[in-house]
Amino acid sequence: MNGKEKDLLVKAKQILSHNWKDGFTVPTNRLYPFQWNWDSGFVSMGFGHFNLDHAMNELASLFSGQWRNGMVPHIIFHSEKEKTYFPNYDFWKANVNAGAPNKPKTSGITQPPVHGFILEQLLLQHPKEEKLIAFAKILFSKIVDSHRFFYQYRDPNREGLTFIFHPWESGRDNSPLWDESMDRIVIDYKKLPKYVRRDTSLADPSERPTSEQYDRYVYLLELGKKHKYDGEGIAEESPFLIQDSLINAILIKSNQSLINIGKQLNLDTGELKEWQSQSKKAYKQKLWNKELGCFTTYDLRGEHQILHKEIGGIFPIFAEIPTKRQAKKINDYLVDLHNRKYYICPSFDVDSPLFDSKRYWRGPIWPQMNWMIYHGLKAYGYDKTAKIVRKDLMELVQKLGFYEYFESQKSIVKTINKGYGGDSFSWTASSIIDFIYNP
Ligand code: GLC
Repeated sequence: MNGKEKDLLVKAKQILSHNWKDGFTVPTNRLYPFQWNWDSGFVSMGFGHFNLDHAMNELASLFSGQWRNGMVPHIIFHSEKEKTYFPNYDFWKANVNAGAPNKPKTSGITQPPVHGFILEQLLLQHPKEEKLIAFAKILFSKIVDSHRFFYQYRDPNREGLTFIFHPWESGRDNSPLWDESMDRIVIDYKKLPKYVRRDTSLADPSERPTSEQYDRYVYLLELGKKHKYDGEGIAEESPFLIQDSLINAILIKSNQSLINIGKQLNLDTGELKEWQSQSKKAYKQKLWNKELGCFTTYDLRGEHQILHKEIGGIFPIFAEIPTKRQAKKINDYLVDLHNRKYYICPSFDVDSPLFDSKRYWRGPIWPQMNWMIYHGLKAYGYDKTAKIVRKDLMELVQKLGFYEYFESQKSIVKTINKGYGGDSFSWTASSIIDFIYNP
């Protein structure tokens, strides 16, 4: 660890400790004042390196919001007094579903299921720690329940691929991937409840989703609510019905981690193995696109692959889904972007007219994505590219601070002095901590 890395490490640990709110960690103060599902997975991994109790508590408090149907909600509203966020728990009304806990309050949708592989990371960090092993045995079955939710409630044709019905479930809220499905939504403004956004007064509106997009987010939320958030009517009715490349790859990655953990701790993995073999097969068959040279997301309502090159399409290397030849294509693509003076990995196709290097999921670099893709590249032996992915993130954070996400064009980075979105961001800190401890 060199001097610069030491400084980054100190800062990163301070950020996590500062964002820790006595039992859980916020992604960033102000903009996101509660606990977010996949964020908290990365937070736990970061804390694992210097405060194992916090790492375990983080996951325990996330799963305290788990529903009876197994779903882990995308937001856990630990504080009912905090009113600065929209949509708050009183707008979600998760209690339309009898299996939603009364406390803590939660949202009604989910997010990428990272917790299986995060738990494996913690066990790799502390292979002999008894309190962690005891904790892992309890959490294991809760995570399996959350995977069962995807297969039971989100896969009506029993394909082994799960659907999402809201862009927020994908983790990539406003990716251009969703534009076609979102445009399908016809809003009857007499029926859409009135609401006031909070995000645009806390962050630069030019970096945030537009108001037309936001109305559609609210429309889909209302559709979920109407069907108690897990009813069959969602698949029948939702204009937005997507088999997302990222969420399905993360599910596969976490299935594998749980299978590994089960073997290590002598836990039953029969069901997991069945899901895993069906999902991997379906993923390879349905989502690869030869012309694009990457995987795609599938529009289940329109019944076609969504033909864009974006981060979810190169991501499956993290779950070791691609063949060697497919992985080479993905590696070549990243090397080409690097040679063309982009930081890698941009969240959207830089050659598309829809690319926007500043706006959220339409082009910038996202720290936790770099962390996962780094490991995927290493698994296929692309160590050189993996090193660039690591170095690019370290450099961005060093130059621009611990922001939520970053500019992807090197020529622009030279002219700015901070990153985008929220500052002192938890998953940025965690990714840096793990990169430094596991070079
Ligand atoms: C944004 C991101 C989402 C993340 C959340 C909290 O909504 O798109 O992926 O979980 O912020 O950081």
